[in-house]
Amino acid sequence: MTLAICPGSFDPITNGHIDIIERAASIFDEVIVAVATNAAKKYLFDDPQRFQLTQESLAYLPNVRVELVSGLIADFASARSANAIVKGIRGGGDFFNEESMGLLNRHLGGIETVFVMANPGLAHIASSYVKEIAAYRGSIDKLVPENVASAVLAKISAHGFQRS
Ligand code: PNS
Repeated sequence: MTLAICPGSFDPITNGHIDIIERAASIFDEVIVAVATNAAKKYLFDDPQRFQLTQESLAYLPNVRVELVSGLIADFASARSANAIVKGIRGGGDFFNEESMGLLNRHLGGIETVFVMANPGLAHIASSYVKEIAAYRGSIDKLVPENVASAVLAKISAHGFQRS
């Protein structure tokens, strides 16, 4: 049984994330999507909301489950005896960040990171752009699943573009 961990902030999950997770789920027997915290980021959605939107969006994938992770991803991967971390790469900017994170995770937990190149048709999608477009009342329909689009619009209509 092979297991991959797909970690991220998922604030919120996008169609780009989902493509990477689907592809991880076709390579590995099981995938755990780890909704984690990037200490450098302020989030629009709180932890339970990021978890719930991610879980709803991936419910159709039978070998994928979602967990909320509060500690280090390297510790989580070791505790689950995962075979690899899987990350999507949209271009050089992502590689710049992911290279050091991958090396650190191997240093911390002996876990390898496998990089999957983003689908070129989805490589322009980023959670930060989704939130910005929605804040200016642009359409995010083709960037995120329907449940996420409604949640982003509801959150921004109720509170403006304030981060939790
Ligand atoms: O979607 P993001 O914000 O690029 O995801 C980054 C995330 C949440 C995966 C990363 O910050 C993370 O792994 N956080 C958990 C704490 C941790 O393990 N930090 C060390 C990373 S080297």
